[in-house]
Amino acid sequence: MTHQRVLVVDFGGQYTQLIVRRVREFGVYSEMVPWTDAAQKIEAEKPDAVILSGGPRSVLEEGAPTLDLALLEGIPILGICYGQQLMAQRLGGRVVTSNHKEYGLRELSGPVDSSMVWGLASNRVWMSHGDQVEAVPEGFIVTSTTESCPVASMENVAKRQYGVQFHPEVTHTPDGKTVLRRFLFDVCGLRGDWTSESFIEEEIAKIRETVGPEGKVLCAVSGGVDSSVMAALLIQAIGDRAVCVFVDHGLLRKDEAKQVIETFGDHFKANLKAFHEHDRFFAGLKGVKDPEAKRKSIGANFVQVFEDHANELKGCDFLAQGTLYPDVIESGSPTAAKIKTHHNVGGLPDWMRMKLIEPLRWLFKDEVRAVGRKLGLPEEMVDREPFPGPGLGVRILGEVTPERVVMVQEADWIFRSELKARGLNKGIWQSYAALLDVKSVGVMGDERTYEQPIVLRAVESEDAMTARAVDLPFEALETIARRIVNEVQGVNRVFYDLTSKPPATIELE
Ligand code: XMP
Repeated sequence: MTHQRVLVVDFGGQYTQLIVRRVREFGVYSEMVPWTDAAQKIEAEKPDAVILSGGPRSVLEEGAPTLDLALLEGIPILGICYGQQLMAQRLGGRVVTSNHKEYGLRELSGPVDSSMVWGLASNRVWMSHGDQVEAVPEGFIVTSTTESCPVASMENVAKRQYGVQFHPEVTHTPDGKTVLRRFLFDVCGLRGDWTSESFIEEEIAKIRETVGPEGKVLCAVSGGVDSSVMAALLIQAIGDRAVCVFVDHGLLRKDEAKQVIETFGDHFKANLKAFHEHDRFFAGLKGVKDPEAKRKSIGANFVQVFEDHANELKGCDFLAQGTLYPDVIESGSPTAAKIKTHHNVGGLPDWMRMKLIEPLRWLFKDEVRAVGRKLGLPEEMVDREPFPGPGLGVRILGEVTPERVVMVQEADWIFRSELKARGLNKGIWQSYAALLDVKSVGVMGDERTYEQPIVLRAVESEDAMTARAVDLPFEALETIARRIVNEVQGVNRVFYDLTSKPPATIELE
């Protein structure tokens, strides 16, 4: 059985991926597509429903993002913010640039009986728009207004076309979920049966079909949650034709390589091949300071390792990676700016022979963890903090050398063990130490020092798309800073990064 799907067309809105998440929380599979590719995808996949996202542009501008709604004949539509304006404009209503820009919380007035917005537990809604719909297209009725917005929502029940000017997907709209639920279940009649089990079942079938009865797949594992779940899925699908390979690039946390090899052997009883390749990776990183160049070098070396061990990996025509949806989104699309090349997405060289398999490509982290639990992975594996593929390479600003790696490993070890000793690691999304590429003056034992600073970072997050610095107790931070300066050679200062994402990112590079 293939699952029902809701396509979210992205017009560049800041909450688009949240819409996808909310829909999935109802057990309905949802995917995001940039508006530039939407027509093709709609024709090819015939989604069960379409949601048009918000966006920063004005539908009145020349060349504004758009979509031919005739393609959606018979498919229910929910337009949100820019999406509602686009529907109004394209279906014959009128959109104007208002003098009353609405940002923040507003109160819906007079929700029409039995409409999509009728009887919500709260009429407060989150607005963020300049343009607004002034006249609805023929066949539509206005179902609510606000003090300054004449069409806060509209609907054409017969055609199953709905629009809301506010954002039901954000938590600031207290009862936004009801609006989405009504659309998905009452309007579209979807089943809500997309679960971890159904995902596993479908992916296993897909993997078997792609790989064929004889094919072998090289599963690149790092010990992290994503690649462990990916490997478990592959092993369940094709047994020992999933060849698990761990590349120790020398950029892992202290003792991590040893741990990965042990846990993997213990749990999966899989034949894990470990390649220790420190020299090759350090050689590639010599003199390289630019973050993107580092990622590319590490990505290329990964593949080179596989090519060089081709004899041992004979017959592997596929490379499986634990790429996740946020990696895909953040590696850039026509509507999303490229923030950084996550090496397991964009950093693979063109000359790679193997075909890529990425079974988790459409999942968010919490969904991967749920799949991992269903596949029976141990809690300590499923609960691990995310760790980037390029490892400490993106936590060492400036040149990556073996000496600087040891500095970060030691500082990181101190930081994380002190957090753990106090039980502060619970609820933290990621915590780590990084090294800056500057020097500052200090004094130690009556001597002047001129050394490098460590930055500590600990963030809370739901899916790595946004994050907030953790409010750690000062006592803990002070003890950690003192230990790092005393115990790690070459470090004379410690900073704690307070920046959220956005505007910063979780990793420093
Ligand atoms: P940023 O730094 O972009 O990170 O806010 C978001 C999440 O992605 C992880 N990350 C990576 N994971 N390859 C990976 O597998 C990469 O190149 C990479 N870069 C960042 C990061 O640790 C965080 O969880």
